[in-house]
Amino acid sequence: MNQQFAKDVLNGLNADPKTLPSKYFYDKKGDSLFQEIMALEEYYLTRSEYEVFKTNKGALTKTFLSDVEKFRLIEFGAGDGYKTKVLLNHFLQENVEFEYLPIDISGNVLNQLESDLKRELPDLKVRPIQDDYFHALEKIENGSTRSVVLFLGSNIGNFRHNKAIEFLTELHARLKPNDLLLIGFDLKKDPKTILNAYNDDKGVTRAFNINLLHRINNELDANFDTSKFVHYPVYNPLTGTTKSFLVSTTAQTVEIMDAAINFDAWEAIHTEVSQKYSLKDIKRLAEESQFSVVRNFFDTRNYFVDSVWQKS
Ligand code: AVJ
Repeated sequence: MNQQFAKDVLNGLNADPKTLPSKYFYDKKGDSLFQEIMALEEYYLTRSEYEVFKTNKGALTKTFLSDVEKFRLIEFGAGDGYKTKVLLNHFLQENVEFEYLPIDISGNVLNQLESDLKRELPDLKVRPIQDDYFHALEKIENGSTRSVVLFLGSNIGNFRHNKAIEFLTELHARLKPNDLLLIGFDLKKDPKTILNAYNDDKGVTRAFNINLLHRINNELDANFDTSKFVHYPVYNPLTGTTKSFLVSTTAQTVEIMDAAINFDAWEAIHTEVSQKYSLKDIKRLAEESQFSVVRNFFDTRNYFVDSVWQKS
């Protein structure tokens, strides 16, 4: 049994209000549900960022090669590489001198990605690293080559503001002055468009949220009756925060190992934060963590931005 998972689940469900960490969505089933989410009509994020790369690949290449001849492309949470391949393809076509270092905590994901890349882009120099982000950075030798760190998909949106600053400050400390950071941010837009992305018609996002309870049942010897919880996302246009909840439709007691967790009727578990940003928010985030914004790259609808930062 995963002790940290057990501890985090019990802490979260004994807290008031109840919460569960969103990082635990991604078991095997959760990975495949997230793949399905990315293909949904309502979930515009992935397609928007793909378009950012398609439209701006030339300008991105120039930015990455400003003042240098080559770079290392380091990706945090590489996943299936769907978006990154746009850049990888372009770099190879243009004979850019670079190496690709995808980092992921999941060995499965990395093995799959590596074999896809070997087949599709046989000339690519790729070195996957299975570890958490900062430990992986320590494994990468400290040469003089520029590192370009990619953190895509608005994954940063899962952090609350303080955690985001903490994460970015730690990353800042580990980068060299000439290194670059490219972060994908989902932008503030029509609140309906945002809310729909987390409340799709087919119920895939509901299944993704509920799967967290299935995972707890499977891995921690618990007895959640998932039919007694509903998926409920909200978007607050003042703060730009989307929150997802699982709401207990009835008073009930759930057993998790030796613990009994009581739910009142309509009590909620907070399961996820997905932050949305304005360009001002992004500039402030960069400055608070000692970076400066080099350039922003957009899709045609201005739904999403990939922001390139440098140490300041
Ligand atoms: C992978 C964290 C960017 O918050 O939009 C998708 C995860 N959650 N639908 C997001 C997610 C519900 C996604 N991130």
